[in-house]
Amino acid sequence: MTAWISFTVNGSAVDLELDPMRRLSDVLRDDLGLIGTKIGCNAGDCGACTVRLDGRQVCACLVPAAQAAGADVRTVEGLARPGVVGSPLEFDDLAALQQAFLAAGAAQCGICTPGMLMAADELLERSPVPARPEIEDALGGVLCRCTGYQKIVEAVVAAAVAAEAPVRAERDPAAGGAVGARLPKVDGIARVSGTAVFGSDARPDRMLAVRAVRSPHARARFTIGDLGPLFNRHPGLVRVLTAADVPGQNRYGIYATGKDQPVLAEGEVRHRGEAVCALVADEAVLETIDDAEVPIHWEPLQPLADMTAARAEGAPRLHDHAPGNVLISGRVARGDLTQLTDGAAIAGAAATAAVEIETGFVEHAYIEPEAGYARRIGERIELFVSTQTPYMDRDEVALILGIAPADVRIVPSACGGGFGGKLDLSVHPLIATAAWLLDRPVRAVWSRPESMAASPKRHPARIRASASAGADGRLIGLRFHGDFDTGAYASWGPTVANRVPVHAMGPYAVPNVLATSRAIHTNNPPAGAFRGFGVPQAALAHEALMDDLATQLGIDLLEIRQRNALRAGSITATGQILHASAGLPGCLDALRPHWTRLRADAAAWNAEAAGRRDPRRRGVGLGAMWYGIGNTSMTNPSTLELGIGRDGVPTLYSGAVDIGQGASTVMVQIAADALGVPAATIQLVSGDTDRTADAGKSSASRQTFVSGNAARLAGDDLRRQILQLAEVAGEATIELGPGRAIVIEPNGAPVVINLAELPLVPAHDAAAAAVLVGRGFYDPKTTPLDADGQGDPYETYAFGAQIAMVEVDLELGTTRVIQIVAAHDVGRAINPTQVEGQIHGGIAQGIGFALMEEYIPGRTENLHDYLIPTIGDAPDIVCLLIEDEEPAGPYGAKGVGEPALVPTAPAILGAIRDATGVRITRLPATPDRVRAAIRAQAG
Ligand code: FES
Repeated sequence: MTAWISFTVNGSAVDLELDPMRRLSDVLRDDLGLIGTKIGCNAGDCGACTVRLDGRQVCACLVPAAQAAGADVRTVEGLARPGVVGSPLEFDDLAALQQAFLAAGAAQCGICTPGMLMAADELLERSPVPARPEIEDALGGVLCRCTGYQKIVEAVVAAAVAAEAPVRAERDPAAGGAVGARLPKVDGIARVSGTAVFGSDARPDRMLAVRAVRSPHARARFTIGDLGPLFNRHPGLVRVLTAADVPGQNRYGIYATGKDQPVLAEGEVRHRGEAVCALVADEAVLETIDDAEVPIHWEPLQPLADMTAARAEGAPRLHDHAPGNVLISGRVARGDLTQLTDGAAIAGAAATAAVEIETGFVEHAYIEPEAGYARRIGERIELFVSTQTPYMDRDEVALILGIAPADVRIVPSACGGGFGGKLDLSVHPLIATAAWLLDRPVRAVWSRPESMAASPKRHPARIRASASAGADGRLIGLRFHGDFDTGAYASWGPTVANRVPVHAMGPYAVPNVLATSRAIHTNNPPAGAFRGFGVPQAALAHEALMDDLATQLGIDLLEIRQRNALRAGSITATGQILHASAGLPGCLDALRPHWTRLRADAAAWNAEAAGRRDPRRRGVGLGAMWYGIGNTSMTNPSTLELGIGRDGVPTLYSGAVDIGQGASTVMVQIAADALGVPAATIQLVSGDTDRTADAGKSSASRQTFVSGNAARLAGDDLRRQILQLAEVAGEATIELGPGRAIVIEPNGAPVVINLAELPLVPAHDAAAAAVLVGRGFYDPKTTPLDADGQGDPYETYAFGAQIAMVEVDLELGTTRVIQIVAAHDVGRAINPTQVEGQIHGGIAQGIGFALMEEYIPGRTENLHDYLIPTIGDAPDIVCLLIEDEEPAGPYGAKGVGEPALVPTAPAILGAIRDATGVRITRLPATPDRVRAAIRAQAG
């Protein structure tokens, strides 16, 4: 049934014939093309679709179109100045609030940004100078997974205080001034205006949709019955894909030797949510088909629910390559191992501590679910998808289709958050297969429950560790073993198993170390990459040990870390000498006054609370970390190109995908300074495998260091070529303009290079029409690890430490994080605003990991039951950037994406212990667990 419904959108009248029960969000996006209204859950949980309806903020996904009849609807597209929608927006076209978001770095991936803006727009209209609690109230319905909310609050405050002129100072740094400047994101205008095109925002002509039918069982055999009746009931159903339809290899996986995950299961499923078959039809037809109509006959089998079951005697083996269900083991051994048995004291030790830690699955919960489309173009396939790793996607899709990698083109959409979760294939295999077979564009958009059921997670861990120290607090030995539930398929399990032992002793010099790990298959969802590759779990153990040793020895918690801190000249547990940047001592020094202040504040607060019989207590804890930048002992090169056409416009071709972390901006800043031109003059082509060279994946905190080096080398190379043409050696400035490059030596006459006279030169982008191309290639210098894990697994390491102050209600068991002070050695902050944003976001995810996030298959498959931090959970964060320059880094930079998360949970657990006297060893530290531990201690 349809009806005519009239309303206004951003001041314009619309009159549509439609189903009155359709979601307003769908009408805005699909019928009116207003893609700025984003979809994160279609359940009113995430708030990405927030618009204003007669002035009030509403989740458009919960509003039936009929409710909009006669109403005034405002979307993010209505914020910019009238008359500019539809043409490229400039900074000055944006509303003051949007400008403030851009200047403050409040939009990272940008998928939540339109919702945030609309909620803030309503607030500022009714309360022009809001207090922080008002901001938290107004924005409380919109989730952000990237920013930690602090810069969003700062932006709202800035817009309120200076409605016409928020911070704009560093928009246009001069030549040579880009590195270190707080440049707004180069793709920021699209993020704050709602014009960025995410995976689900594109709707190609003639498109079909594909939806997987997924297993409700964790382990089962199955057969698919006669599909004829299904086609009869749904004449619009175009195709049902099964494993037999996959044109090439029905297996994919991260490692060449670990391609164990089927596109579509072959008679047996190994986890709930595994794809069994797939329905292809017009989107509207697909919505009418219930998965239960597909004739699948199940034979459920007893699943291996956890690692204990998987390792039990007689447990079925889930994969031939994994005896005992152990996918892979990792090991680092150094020094005298004879006494490094579990929990045993070492001869000469003044103190020995032991700890056992257990963590659960953690969901990435990026606000943008997986989405994209594929289209066949002759004998090539082109995918527009949300991804962190276009080149790996290209190679995997080629295997699945049985075609050459060169015949696959990956065009990354704007990525609405990744955090490691978009390093695995998601929609790619099925959209590619369907588009290839049917020669029609095929799109897939995962629902939130589908995303949560089918995407990889952070590995649950069970860790035992012990450490001994002398009377002076210096570590003598450390023993660590961690088992990691890698779920049904390998995904990034090998990476976790290899990275964890290298980092298991923490950022400390320990002469005797035995660190081992295993990745164990179960019938749980695949566990893969999630911001830290197992290091955040390991950090819980080494930081608890440091606290225990310090307490036993009567040494201050910060002091014992300072005494043991790795520093320049230290030898790590893998035998690597840290020749240069190792800034943990600087981080701890910077934290020391805050440590003193916060502990005094907590003590004073607790004394008052006790006096007024308040059940709350405050505590302060400390966490420290280190993190190897890039792949572990593996080549992970990056190539970037910087070209100039006859128009004189420099264009950076960067395959370093920006997943919200700001890689695009960092690459432009570095390339601009290397070439010696203003950053604002550089155009950017990003991610497209046909147009950019392979820069590797956006993970392992590697892009600033690895691709940043490639960007610098590309800039250097182009500059060298220009100076050579001008026959100029040494100092000179370069000015680029239409058809020419001018080289000016100090006190010399300008030399004009006529670009129009130069022949075209080859570039990775065949359509580049470049006359000069600078190329940069960088591969970090690492060595393989031997059987004892000895070698140089990374060229450089990031270091950091954080202090957490928490407030625990001793009766309810609730924990509130009040303040985090974070000191991170980033080498050089290429863009301090973005570095701070990464730290804020990492801390927010660390808070979720510590206190609330636990994915349980079949039970927490939405953003209502699976809790992530809201703006109300965001503490005050103080960032201290320690710039211990890395000589091998571009302008001294390292990386900060993952390091920001690692120390947060250890600091929070330490603070809970300080406040309550109990150590929480099972994460997350939910109120029931904290209360139970407090009661157990009280007897
Ligand atoms: Fe908020 Fe990415 S910027 S979810």
